[in-house]
Amino acid sequence: MSDLTRSAPWAALVAHHKTLAKVQMRDLFAQEPRRFDRFSLEVGPLFLDYSRNRLTNRTLSLLLDLARDADLEGWIDRLFAGEAVNHTEKRPALHIALRNRSNCPILVDGIDVMPAVNAVLERMRTFSGAVRDGSWTGFSGASIRDVVAIGIGGSSLGPRLAVEALAPYAKGGPRIHFVANVDGAEISSVLDGLDPGRTLFVVTSKTFTTAETLVNARTARAWYLEKGGDSAALDRHFVAVSSNAAKVAEFGLDPDKSFAMWDWVGGRYSLWSAVGLPIAIAIGFDRFVELLEGAHEMDEHFRSAALDANMPVLLGLIGTWYGSFFGAPSHAVLPYDRRLAQLPAFLQQLDMESNGKRVMRDGEAVDYPTGPIVWGGVGTDGQHAFFQLLHQGTRLVPADFIAAIEPDHGLPEHHRMLLANCLAQGEALMRGRTLVEVNAELAAAGLDPAEQARLAPHMVCPGNQPSNTILMRRLDPRSLGALLALYEHKVFVQSVLWRINPFDQFGVELGKKLATGILAELEAGAPSGSRDSSTNGLIARCLARP
Ligand code: F6P
Repeated sequence: MSDLTRSAPWAALVAHHKTLAKVQMRDLFAQEPRRFDRFSLEVGPLFLDYSRNRLTNRTLSLLLDLARDADLEGWIDRLFAGEAVNHTEKRPALHIALRNRSNCPILVDGIDVMPAVNAVLERMRTFSGAVRDGSWTGFSGASIRDVVAIGIGGSSLGPRLAVEALAPYAKGGPRIHFVANVDGAEISSVLDGLDPGRTLFVVTSKTFTTAETLVNARTARAWYLEKGGDSAALDRHFVAVSSNAAKVAEFGLDPDKSFAMWDWVGGRYSLWSAVGLPIAIAIGFDRFVELLEGAHEMDEHFRSAALDANMPVLLGLIGTWYGSFFGAPSHAVLPYDRRLAQLPAFLQQLDMESNGKRVMRDGEAVDYPTGPIVWGGVGTDGQHAFFQLLHQGTRLVPADFIAAIEPDHGLPEHHRMLLANCLAQGEALMRGRTLVEVNAELAAAGLDPAEQARLAPHMVCPGNQPSNTILMRRLDPRSLGALLALYEHKVFVQSVLWRINPFDQFGVELGKKLATGILAELEAGAPSGSRDSSTNGLIARCLARP
C-alpha cells in the first residue's frame, strides 16, 4: 500500500463510503430542505450547484482532511509563487502569470516575468488591432479576410474553443479557421477558396518541432507561393507563436516578428498567452483582456478562499470522491450551449494529459485510480444519443452540466427549452424513477396488472447519478475565462490529492517516436519486418498495390 492509501484520511473515506454507498440522493434532499443553499456557491460570473452529489457534510469534512493531509494549501502557494511544481522538467507552471491583471511581480529564478508577459500582450494588442481594422495588409495591399490558425493540442484546442464560444463578440473581424490534424483533408478543405493575398497564417507551436504543425505550415507556405503569393512578403502572411526562436528561424520566419511564449507555460494551459492570438484577432484585444480578467478572478478566489468555500477545490474533491472511492472511471462534460461544443475536447486534453499518470511525484507507482476518462457532448443532442446509459446503464457517471441563463440570440423560446432540459436532466439523474412510481404511472394510463408487471422493470431509472451544475449569466469572455480557469485549478487540486505531477506528458512521446520509424518505412515503400507481426502486417498492407 502507498502512504496515501494507508493514511488516516484515506481510510476514513473508505469507511465513510461504505455508509453512503446505498444512500439515495433523493432521500438526502427530502431530509435537508436547505440542501441547495448549503451545497452551492457563487464566484464572480459562475454559480455552482453541487447539491446533486452523493455527499453529506461529513463527506466534505473527510475530503477536506484528505486535502489538508496532501498539503493542498501549500501546493497552491507554491503554484502561485512560481516554484518548480513541474519537478520532472524542473519548471514552474505559471499560466496564472499570463492573466495576472493585478500585475504584482511573479518571480522565476529571481526575475519578474510580468514585464515580458505585458510586452507580448502589448504586441498582441497592436497586431490584432491592425488585422481587425484592415491596416495590416497582404502583399497585394488588401486587408486580411481569413486567418488560418495552425497548431495542435494545447496550441489549438483552447483558441478554437474560445473563438467558437465567443462568436457573437467577433463582429467585424476576419474569419478564423483552425488546422490541427496532419490529415491533409483538413488543410485542403480550409485552403479551398481562400485568397492568398487576404490570408494570414498563425503558426503556433510551443516547441516548433511538432510534426503535424510543421507539415501543415509547410503545406500552407507552398500553397501561398503556388497561388501567386509574394515570397518577399511572407512575413505579412505568416506569423509564428513559439518559445523556440531557433526553430522558428529554421522554418524561415523571422523570430523577431514572432510572438514569444515561455517554457513555464504548459501547452494545455497556454490559451492565455500569445497562443490566444487567434482569439484576440477574432473578438478584439479588449475582449481578450476580459477573458484574462475572468480567469484572474478565479485565480484570486482559488488562491485566497478557504478550502471549504473554494470552487475549484470543491470540484476537485468531489471528482476524487467518485474516482478514488466509488471507482467511477469517467467524468461527463455536458454543456447545454452549442457554442461550448469544443469544451469536452479541451477538457480532455487539460484533464487527461495532466492527470493521466501512474506514478507519484517520487516515482512510486500509485495504487489508486488517477485522472478520469473525460468525455461528453452538448445538450440537448446528447439526450438523444448517450443519455440512455446515464439513466439506466450500470455505471456511475458523474457529470457537469454547464449553461448560460441568457442567450446571445433572439430566440427566447429556444433558450427556455434548452435550460428546462438542462435542469430536468440533472433532476432526472438524481431522482430516478422508482418501481412504485412506474407502477402508479402505468396504472393511471390504464394498463392491466400483467402488462404493468411486464413493462415496469424496463422503465425503472435507479437515479443517484451525481452531477454539478455550473450556471453563468451569459457566455461572455469573462465567464468563459473564469470557467476555464476553474477547470485548470480543479485538475491541479486532484493532482495534489493523488500526489502526481500534472504538468508533464512523457506518455505522448512513445507513439510520436514510433510514427517516425513507420513513416520512414512508408516513404521507402519497403516494410522493415522488424516489428511485431501486427505492425509489420499493417505496414505491408498499406504498401501493397491493389
Ligand atoms: O503531444 C502532446 C503535446 O506536446 C501537447 O502537450 C501540446 O499541447 C501539443 O503536443 C502541441 O505542442 P506544441 O505547441 O509544442 O506544438
